[in-house]
Amino acid sequence: MGFTEKQEGLVKESWEVLKQDIPHSSLRFFSLILEIAPGAKNMFSFLRESEEIPQNNPKLKAHAVKVFKMTCESAIQLREKGEVVVADTTLKYLGTVHVKSGVKDPHFEVVKEALLRTIEEAIGEEKWNEEMKNAWGEAYDQLAEAIKAEMKNHH
Ligand code: HEM
Repeated sequence: MGFTEKQEGLVKESWEVLKQDIPHSSLRFFSLILEIAPGAKNMFSFLRESEEIPQNNPKLKAHAVKVFKMTCESAIQLREKGEVVVADTTLKYLGTVHVKSGVKDPHFEVVKEALLRTIEEAIGEEKWNEEMKNAWGEAYDQLAEAIKAEMKNHH
């Protein structure tokens, strides 16, 4: 079954909530990434430099927002076109950046888990449900697949 209008709506709706407090969501997202995979700390330039997760770091925020936003855009594309299409130049850049930083395929599962938990917390238990989780999960998986495939061309 393809990605439905309802699924797209669920993703968009929760992104609107997440967007209201990017500094908090970004920080929470990275705290969860490190909670799940402490070893990931050394891959991120802005985490390597300090003991604590830096508050209000523009690079940290940029990465979090890219993941949130690109997943949201993927949801829209999945509904409109039935597939995720990342602009060629962007995809090449993403492939290079991640290979250079030492990112491996399993890290994408860590980031997925952190992403879903960040959204769950932002939305609140009452509104968060399986359907919303699956919609974000599917949009993220397809985006991650595109990046992982590109990473294979940059080793
Ligand atoms: C850098 C996006 C998944 C680790 C970047 C950059 C983008 C990006 C756009 C370039 C820097 C920027 O413009 O902010 C994404 C997206 C992902 C994803 C859309 C998933 C859908 C991951 C995963 C990891 C990771 C799974 C590893 C846990 C990194 C690192 C950098 C980076 C280490 C370099 C950042 C630095 O040191 O400044 N990513 N990323 N990313 N990404 Fe990702």
